[in-house]
Amino acid sequence: MDTGYTLDQFLADTRATIKTKGVPSGLAEIRDHLENLLRNPELLKKHLGEPVPYKERTTIGHDPETDVHVLVHGREKGGKSVPHDHGPCWVIYGNYKNPTRMRRWRRLDDGSKPGHAELELQRDFMNEAGHAAVFAVGDIHSIEYGDDTFFIRVTGGDVESQKTLRFDLDKKSVQVADRAQGQR
Ligand SMILES: [Fe+2]
Repeated sequence: MDTGYTLDQFLADTRATIKTKGVPSGLAEIRDHLENLLRNPELLKKHLGEPVPYKERTTIGHDPETDVHVLVHGREKGGKSVPHDHGPCWVIYGNYKNPTRMRRWRRLDDGSKPGHAELELQRDFMNEAGHAAVFAVGDIHSIEYGDDTFFIRVTGGDVESQKTLRFDLDKKSVQVADRAQGQR
């Protein structure tokens, strides 16, 4: 039975893109590979089981050669994040079931005042199921989603072992979150 574009194919194609185009030039092509993967109707059943469980974060793939990670986020209840970056990693978010409201932020200050940060909304859009959005190293975004949302996150390096920035829009502040310590 043809189950569509597989995780192994995705990792192989992504490896080829990184070798031929590099990063960040290849990120748009990796997004296209991810959108192919999102169209595989068996993907989550195959890697998470059936019925597909809501699990906050599951790594379903890793390529040691490129250090690309593929994670599934399954959210039973709606939620949102504060604006954040991904430390030294690039990240591509692809929605598998239901959309995520994505906001991109631009930092206005030069970072010279410790703990201070001012952000301006740059883009606000719905990342619909079947679509993926690229965040290059240093890009700042926030997410908001409703109940029963599944999204896939592809990361260059392991974001969850890094120190990343989290921003507070009201306080105009920024702090470092050590994700290895469970801060995010
Ligand atoms: Fe993020």
